[in-house]
Amino acid sequence: MSGGAPEHREPRLELGDIQGTLLRPPPGACHGVYQLYRIDDPAAARRALRTVLPSVTPATGMDRPRPFTFNIAFTYTGLAALGVPEDSLASFPQEFRAGMAARKEVLGDTGDGDPACWVPPLGSKDVHIGIVIITTAEEELEEPLAIAAGLDGVSRIYQRDVYMPSSGREHFGFRESIGGPYVIGSGIEPLPGQDHVMPGEFVLGHEDESGRVSPMPSPEVLGRNGTYVAFRQFATDVAGFRTYLREHARSRDDEELLAAKMVGRWRSGAPLALAPERDDPELGADPRRNNDFAYHESDPDGLRVPQGSHIRRVNPRDSLTGGIVDTRIHRMVRRGALYGPPLPEGRTDDDGVERGLFFIFMGADLARQFEFITQVWINNGDFAGLGHTKDPFVGTNDGTGTYVIPARPVRRRLTGLPGFITVRGGEYCFMPGLRALEWLAAER
Ligand code: HEM
Repeated sequence: MSGGAPEHREPRLELGDIQGTLLRPPPGACHGVYQLYRIDDPAAARRALRTVLPSVTPATGMDRPRPFTFNIAFTYTGLAALGVPEDSLASFPQEFRAGMAARKEVLGDTGDGDPACWVPPLGSKDVHIGIVIITTAEEELEEPLAIAAGLDGVSRIYQRDVYMPSSGREHFGFRESIGGPYVIGSGIEPLPGQDHVMPGEFVLGHEDESGRVSPMPSPEVLGRNGTYVAFRQFATDVAGFRTYLREHARSRDDEELLAAKMVGRWRSGAPLALAPERDDPELGADPRRNNDFAYHESDPDGLRVPQGSHIRRVNPRDSLTGGIVDTRIHRMVRRGALYGPPLPEGRTDDDGVERGLFFIFMGADLARQFEFITQVWINNGDFAGLGHTKDPFVGTNDGTGTYVIPARPVRRRLTGLPGFITVRGGEYCFMPGLRALEWLAAER
């Protein structure tokens, strides 16, 4: 088990004031729409926001099925366009004010992932409002889309349909949305193996892992119960991944092993930590077992889960000096959804159709969480004694990447690693609490 359950610290969260997507995972299979808006007329937009407010989904009432969830967030330029006063704007952290595109050096967004190549309007100053709609059935999109269409004083500048198939697998074929922290106070039953993390790491205005209240922008009514969102669109080169595996594996079974060694899990979701030799689909599908492991005692040398694999980099659990390094300060709430059709099974040539994932990474501190993980853990292996190597699955590799798979009697070394994902764009947003939304929508 990684992480304990310090029950005396269980705080009460104001679930009715926190937007649902932060604390409530989406239903397994789902459909959704991601939209971006530009504010043209601030007074009209504020009025429209007041009419939309009752439809914004809080983190309560998840005991009964919902036809849809509707959540809303703002970029820094969006808050300014809405008329948020200067002193309040100045109280937001520097990286949020700069915006994701301006943080390209930190995030490694160069080459094809450079903001200059992003899908318009991503990365431009026109992106002001982001809306995320999720439903369990496609026909149920009609109502939330009509609500969004009622927004006045704004222009819709981007829209993508997203989905998660019932297999729960992303385009490369791996089960998604397994590892994630248990947010103390969220009222959800924690699963075995989840880190128990103080709510202030994710929800502004609450105690965090350092024992302090996470800093908030002012005034308090705006900051409290909000969170920051790193919204990222990644194109996935599925044909490239399959081809790389085919060219570097010794057999078809070995292709599966290499894929698992890159990610740290088999495609079924079964963790290599618990199923080191072969896939175990039942384990992969069992949420009470598939995340219940650590690394330090059972796998110090990475013989099961290589230190450089995707999941061991982005959440080293107790790997780093036996848990002395507190990885809880680098956790995020992560939600992913797919876009584009799947590449047919077995096809290794590119069909020219773009497919990928939208992620929203949420937390109280963009720099310490999303940026740190991307810069230090994904794109530089020094933290784990791996030198300047990158995540073999999602790192910014350029065809010269290497990846070491510890094994006995001899380790394996993959070379010539290309990048399998390309950043197509993204934005930093602030997802306010519901009272804060009222404050933002009020007459000025
Ligand atoms: C297209 C890009 C990506 C793909 C296809 C991808 C895929 C996956 C898969 C298959 C897993 C294992 C299943 C799970 O635990 O949910 C995973 C875990 C995870 N990924 Fe990614 N990922 C991507 C990008 C990223 C990025 C950019 C970050 C961080 C900035 C990230 C952070 C995480 C985290 C925190 C976990 C959970 C690890 C754990 O707790 O063991 N991923 N990802």
